[in-house]
Amino acid sequence: MPKLSINVDHVATLRQARKAKEPDPVAAAVTAEMAGADGITVHLRGDRRHVQERDLRILREVTKGSLNLEMAARDEMMRIALQVRPDMVTLVPEREGELTTEGGLDVQGNFKQLKQTIDKLKSNGIEVSLFINPDEESVKSSAKLGPHYVEINTDSYASARNASDQTTQLKRLEKMANLAHQLGLGINMGHGLNYRNIVNLAQIPHVHEFSIGHAIVARAVLVGFEKAVREMLVLVKGFK
Ligand code: PXP
Repeated sequence: MPKLSINVDHVATLRQARKAKEPDPVAAAVTAEMAGADGITVHLRGDRRHVQERDLRILREVTKGSLNLEMAARDEMMRIALQVRPDMVTLVPEREGELTTEGGLDVQGNFKQLKQTIDKLKSNGIEVSLFINPDEESVKSSAKLGPHYVEINTDSYASARNASDQTTQLKRLEKMANLAHQLGLGINMGHGLNYRNIVNLAQIPHVHEFSIGHAIVARAVLVGFEKAVREMLVLVKGFK
């Protein structure tokens, strides 16, 4: 059965919009784990637009499941990862100003730098995953680098224009998952997954973990909205 890691970045996005103390991604992480989530994911970005170093350090203290740190393969992030020691680091490309991670790593083009980063993390007891696009070259190049996992980018499936395109993309993900599995890699998947498109994807064999953020935070805002309004009405008007 695949595991589910909840990405709480966008709880921090909401907090940072006001530079306030709430909502706290750590509180969201604790709630997610209480609901049964297997792990928590955060992306510490160079521009610190959502998750802060402090969040990461507190998450390390309080999470009970697996803590996955998404980060660029840069010196600053490596220093933080080695101090905080998440259970897993997922290496992602990071472009300044991007709205979200725009694609997988150019594994072949950054082979040497990735090798050094992966080896250092592994020798410090941290599991490593590489966020890659669902193509053969990326999977095969990744296998040569020896990470524990690849996280296959599901964006092309999630943003498929119609049902037939979605089926094509689903088959492609399945093929790449099989290839990665044959090459001895563990398989994670994520990006753009939601309450509709996860259903078929969850049937694919060999997936260790799905990483989902935006759809869950988006749903939580609406699922909880009525309760939040009612609670305020009690305080303002004194009735239930
Ligand atoms: N995996 C990676 C590597 C990501 O960068 C993201 C987005 O932060 C996700 C998974 C989660 O994507 P989403 O927020 O669309 O569920």
